[in-house]
Amino acid sequence: AAFSTSSSAYAPVNVKNITVFGSGLMGAGIVQVAAQNAFNVTMVDLNPEALKKGQDIINSSLKRVAKKQFPEDEGKQKEFIEKTFAQIKTSSDAEAASKDADLIIEAIVENLTAKQQLFSRLDKVAPEHALFCSNTSSLPIGEIAKATKREDRFGGLHFFNPVPQMKLVEVIRTSETSQDSFDAFMDVCTRMKKTPISCKDTPGFVVNRLLVPYMMESIRIVERGEATPQDVDTAMKLGAGFPMGPFELLDFVGLDTTKFIVDGWRKEGKVDANLVAPIKILDDLVAKGHLGRKSGQGFYSYQGVGGKK
Ligand code: 3HC
Repeated sequence: AAFSTSSSAYAPVNVKNITVFGSGLMGAGIVQVAAQNAFNVTMVDLNPEALKKGQDIINSSLKRVAKKQFPEDEGKQKEFIEKTFAQIKTSSDAEAASKDADLIIEAIVENLTAKQQLFSRLDKVAPEHALFCSNTSSLPIGEIAKATKREDRFGGLHFFNPVPQMKLVEVIRTSETSQDSFDAFMDVCTRMKKTPISCKDTPGFVVNRLLVPYMMESIRIVERGEATPQDVDTAMKLGAGFPMGPFELLDFVGLDTTKFIVDGWRKEGKVDANLVAPIKILDDLVAKGHLGRKSGQGFYSYQGVGGKK
């Protein structure tokens, strides 16, 4: 279909209430940033245990932020943390949590069917004006949106890890996203004190479309025996000014996540096949459960004495 324009039937939405699905690292980070910037936020996950984990992620990150904002004042730090938590409700009732939402952000498991099923349910209970978006890094936004009858009010808001620290949000508009919805997405990002960029619904959008092939080529350098992971990391940090080398970044993002993205792109067939050809080292590490920081072992070890971090 052609690009929709501002002639959409719905007035621009002034987002106040945000409901976030998923309380993992990304979901919790988005909840935190929204709450810090005075949105009313509801964090939704399947059960209280998952929600507790999300609150713990937010709590430890808020402590860092508070220390930075009020270096010498523990009282103010505490006040800031309490004030932020006061903006956050939690729920494991998807329908109830969506009834007053102006914007729903989904950050659940990277599975197309799971995302479509969730949005299809929410489409029936969320207010007519509510905007929907996904934080997916590997699935086409347009495919997820098809599960709803509000494709004009659907887009992507792609945040980066660690969400409270990384300034960018990629705002993805599909061919169906209305101008009003797009404007509201951009406005929300700005009010979250992030810098939004506009992108189309293409594999990896902008950041991952560049980062993922770069990380893959880094592994190929090691596979070909041209340099060690340590030397490649030193090279990119000191020679190109990256905050992390590609192997540190792979471990940080998760090797399973990167493999999942690459495998998906290969199947989709839109990205040059050479860029996404399988790499034995990566496949073997993932098969062994060496997924990076989160499993204690990836290209580097994160356990015990002598661990990298
Ligand atoms: N919450 C709040 N603040 C945090 C934080 C968190 N979870 N983690 C780090 N920070 C802040 C620190 O407070 C510190 O702030 P300051 O510089 O203002 O004092 C700053 O980040 C730096 O932290 P540290 O000094 O502890 O550690 P580093 O200097 O090693 O930085 C890093 C850590 C910010 C992660 C940095 O290494 C970095 O920017 N790495 C690259 C991250 C990146 O590329 N992310 C994108 C990954 S791709 C992705 O997410 C897409 C997905 O779809 C796959």
